[in-house]
Amino acid sequence: MSALLANKIQKLPKVELHSHLEGCIQPNLVRTIAERNGISLKHGLFTTDDTFAWGDFVEFLQAYDEASFCLRKAQDYRDIMYTYMEQCAAEGTIYAETFISPDHAAAVGMSYEDMLSGCIEGINDAERDFGIVGRLIISCIRHLGPDQALVIAQQLADNPHPYIVGFGMGGNESTYTQADFAPAFNIAAAAGFACTTHAGEILGPESVWDAIDNLPVTRIGHGVRSAEDPALMAELAKRGIALEVCPGSNIALSVYPDLASHPLNKILKAGISISLNSDDPPFFDTTVGTEYHSGAKDFGLDLEQLRSISRMAMEASFADADTKTRLLAVIG
Ligand code: ADE
Ligand code: ZN
Repeated sequence: MSALLANKIQKLPKVELHSHLEGCIQPNLVRTIAERNGISLKHGLFTTDDTFAWGDFVEFLQAYDEASFCLRKAQDYRDIMYTYMEQCAAEGTIYAETFISPDHAAAVGMSYEDMLSGCIEGINDAERDFGIVGRLIISCIRHLGPDQALVIAQQLADNPHPYIVGFGMGGNESTYTQADFAPAFNIAAAAGFACTTHAGEILGPESVWDAIDNLPVTRIGHGVRSAEDPALMAELAKRGIALEVCPGSNIALSVYPDLASHPLNKILKAGISISLNSDDPPFFDTTVGTEYHSGAKDFGLDLEQLRSISRMAMEASFADADTKTRLLAVIG
């Protein structure tokens, strides 16, 4: 890639719709927060000073849980949100939606209110200092089961805030079905929240059918394995369901052996709306900026195609109509 194109991509307004706050904590921030909270980190959490240790998907989820174990105060959430948004803004990101998991906060005795107030402060401070707009998606955890998802959806419905724009689900795709979570998603949707769920990442196209047939979702987290089913691709395009694509994450988690095998271009050619995202930046050694650069370098996308991805992402975002219009004008 020429230096000129790299420079233009750096300046291109970017939109990130898929990152997990607990997966955005840089190792040095984990150590700082653990120290100030007097918490000893599990031996073997890192391979080097800057790298989390994990091998497969389940080990990744365990390392992620372990890193979030040191979060005990609103200030901790504030600092992670602020640091993540600062990094995003430095790469040209103008809007970021981040999943936050009340189950992780509750696991260490933190209240929903404290978790939320920290995130809101981080978003406000980052917008003041860097101009980036941040919003939150409350996420339940699939492997904790449908009953716990109901608790989280009800908490969401009972505690509205203008920065909370959606409901989502992450976690281990191999447990339960998407349909099992319909009661939780229906509570969130009835309370006015837009919905997304992780599907078609570890499992195949049938998991995406399960999601779009049974849940009130307008986006799918990952969804890349939809590319194995032409009828599903046509359905996603027809219904305007957007995929939150995270190529670096997919390679790190061995969903595909390399970027040459990744179906990003096939999905774009099928007319499906997408966004480009980091998922869990320090775990997968990526950032949203890295993903945009990879779009050019590894997938042959030109600047206008990358700009159209930012536009698609902003359209598919859960932001209110005024914010969308304002930020779409910035993207151009
Ligand atoms: N939680 C954080 N990252 C995730 C991923 N890539 N898949 C499922 N759950 C997650
Ligand atoms: Zn994810």
